[in-house]
Amino acid sequence: MDRTPLISGNWKMNLNHFEAIQLVQKLSYELRNHDYDAVEVSLHPPYTDLRSVQTVIDADRMRFQLGAQNCHSEVSGAFTGEISPAMLAKLDVDYVIVGHSERRALFGENDEIVATKAAAVLAHDMTPIVCVGETLDERESGQEATIVEAQVVGSLKFIEGEKLDGVVIAYEPVWAIGTGVTASAEDAQDMCSHIRSVVGSIRRESIDLIRIQYGGSVNPANAGELMAMPDIDGALVGGAALQADSFARIVNFKDA
Ligand code: PGA
Repeated sequence: MDRTPLISGNWKMNLNHFEAIQLVQKLSYELRNHDYDAVEVSLHPPYTDLRSVQTVIDADRMRFQLGAQNCHSEVSGAFTGEISPAMLAKLDVDYVIVGHSERRALFGENDEIVATKAAAVLAHDMTPIVCVGETLDERESGQEATIVEAQVVGSLKFIEGEKLDGVVIAYEPVWAIGTGVTASAEDAQDMCSHIRSVVGSIRRESIDLIRIQYGGSVNPANAGELMAMPDIDGALVGGAALQADSFARIVNFKDA
């Protein structure tokens, strides 16, 4: 089954809108048409940069997909400080990360909240990138498969029928995020294969269609090995996405 890999740059709370424009332009300069033919590339700047980045992508006809890092599940209302999926859709956002481990750990998001956000993103014709992953304690006590399975089932529970086919799941072991410690390609493959079978138990038709990214200290040196794994369909990249050259070398991992 040919699934187009998705390589996503999660900029987190970094870069103002001027710096964001510069990074997009540098990145575009480093990539060639054949890079975008082989993989999809999504960029996830902070909310305040979205309009600027969207304008540059449109004006220069760049082949990046625009992404957000989070959103609220409601369309509008008294939710001070929140951003609606309808607002993101209006900015031509394609992908929205939901349930990133930093949102789960620092902002109290549980599977129920993540599930409502994922469904809201789909309802606005965008694609959720649903993040799951175990902590170090959970792995060391051998619970990683059960924990991740519960997150997958809980976070996808409001997604109906064939909509599940187009969802992206990002497997990001919490202990690998921002630490420089990557999961071995074999461990990452094992968990992504498990996630795929869990998705298959929810809806059989989705098993070969759903894309599963790996995230957690992905860099130009390890990207190729991770993405060569049969159940890993791309990467969610944090730190290494903030420099044009390192992110470009992850995007064109096949040339390495
Ligand atoms: P990292 O972050 O690549 O800096 O580990 C990944 C993520 O948080 O999505």
